Amino acid sequence: MRKLSNLLFVSSNIHKFKEAKVILDSFDISIQFFKLNLEEIQSNSLKEIALKKAQNAFSKCKKPLIIEDDGLYIDYLDGFPGPYSSYVYKTIGNQGILDLLKKNRDAKFISNITYCDQKNLESFEGKLDGCISKSEKGTGWGYDPIFIPKNTKKTFAELIDKNNLSHRYKALKKFSSWYLNK
Ligand code: IMP
Repeated sequence: MRKLSNLLFVSSNIHKFKEAKVILDSFDISIQFFKLNLEEIQSNSLKEIALKKAQNAFSKCKKPLIIEDDGLYIDYLDGFPGPYSSYVYKTIGNQGILDLLKKNRDAKFISNITYCDQKNLESFEGKLDGCISKSEKGTGWGYDPIFIPKNTKKTFAELIDKNNLSHRYKALKKFSSWYLNK
């Protein structure tokens, strides 16, 4: 039976919401989009950023919610852009990243899903290893055209089953088993 839920997904990014909705539907959790541009603190820790964002969102929405914060960590760049991924995407973009890379193209995507209500503040992390493609492939949002998950040959933008293996899927799976047993 579908769990009725007034859980909000607070974000300014509709792409994240659409993917999260498909994933959480598969765990029988329904979410609603609450569009809000949340301020981000500067920190090297995705978790720290996400915790503050979730508390900030809760002070505005006053309803149980989740927020998501992600980072793309590139080995050759010592983990850069990491927590600065959003800024780097807006400035140099995918082509700028491709121009910076030489032989070692290993990278990982990390998603931090943070839940907040009146009593709980909990974070869940999903990591996905992969590499950066040599050129942009496929049409997708954000870094999708340049990120190739491990054990595949296609970018996120070219894959049809991104939602079954992504960093977002892994974090939301951990969240779901906690949330459904809370
Ligand atoms: P933030 O959580 O919005 O700060 O995300 C960091 C950056 O990573 C943004 O530029 C997002 O568009 C990008 N990003 C996060 N998740 C994904 C994804 O699944 N595919 C492509 N880009 C992503």
